[in-house]
Amino acid sequence: MDLTYRPRRLRRTSGLRSMVQEHSLNPADFIYPLFVHEGDHVEPISAMPGVNRWSLDNLMGEVERAWKLGIKSVVLFPKVDEALKTEDAAECFNEKGLIPRAIRRLKKELPEMTIMTDVALDPYSCDGHDGIVSSEGVVLNDETIEYLCRQAVVQAQAGADLIGPSDMMDGRVGAIREALDDEGYEHVGIISYTAKYSSAYYGPFREALDSAPREASIKPIPKDKSTYQMNPANAREAITEAQLDEQEGADILMVKPGLAYMDIVYRLRQESELPIAAYNVSGEYAMVKAAAEKGWIDERAVVLETLLSFRRAGADLILTYHACDAAEWLRQV
Ligand code: PBG
Repeated sequence: MDLTYRPRRLRRTSGLRSMVQEHSLNPADFIYPLFVHEGDHVEPISAMPGVNRWSLDNLMGEVERAWKLGIKSVVLFPKVDEALKTEDAAECFNEKGLIPRAIRRLKKELPEMTIMTDVALDPYSCDGHDGIVSSEGVVLNDETIEYLCRQAVVQAQAGADLIGPSDMMDGRVGAIREALDDEGYEHVGIISYTAKYSSAYYGPFREALDSAPREASIKPIPKDKSTYQMNPANAREAITEAQLDEQEGADILMVKPGLAYMDIVYRLRQESELPIAAYNVSGEYAMVKAAAEKGWIDERAVVLETLLSFRRAGADLILTYHACDAAEWLRQV
């Protein structure tokens, strides 16, 4: 054939292929999510093989392992004792709570590790919602924000580097920014869960924290989070959320879940000059693990391809439970 253009020329050898490779993975772009609990043992999470709830003592070892693999950031989630959960979730701003203690300890032992937190009420709420549920069953916005601000300040006090509001209340980024600044934490950043969808992919995470919305009791409790998290049918709305978060002072924008929302990652990348993060969530992890256990897919190849696809879509940062495995595999290639 008389062809001028033969794209295969640049695919012929591995040297040529790597020369023209557009995107790559670096463990420094991973944020590694970790679950902590009060116990003194390590507790596996059944729907997330390889992921555990760590005691504070064991958490250190896992974070050091991640650091040695080149991972520079972790995000912490608490499994709070049932007895501490209340309707107003006030445990979320207890200075001596699980998360502030975990942050202090990590910062003492490994000060260079960047610590991101999650700001929302669900792990501390006996109703299992990210905000305060009124007696009529409405998730209250402005009342919740006061609590979120106190939670963020306590986390900053403990040494958090990046505060991650994950609750999707309106106006929380601006309010948290102001609360942090008022207390002298103007250097602490906000990584906002900007476009967080009301998704079934969070199932295994809610098992890990036992944080799913509860049954209605003395008051009605919404069965899902669709009055605050975004409708999976909407894309333009993500841009509105991104614009608001930027105006309110977010430093990094996040899309969540990741895989089913790659178009949103791409759109935000076009719309904003801020760093974009994507959350490769618990349900996405669980699906890969289940298929790999059955021998139906090659786990290593699928994970590295998936993480690379986040970078191609425009994500600078990837929150992923595969972080340590992927970092190890990247060393071997
Ligand atoms: C809590 C929160 C959730 C996740 C991160 N922070 C669950 C939810 O909103 O119900 C999900 C993470 C995952 O599934 O990996 N606000």
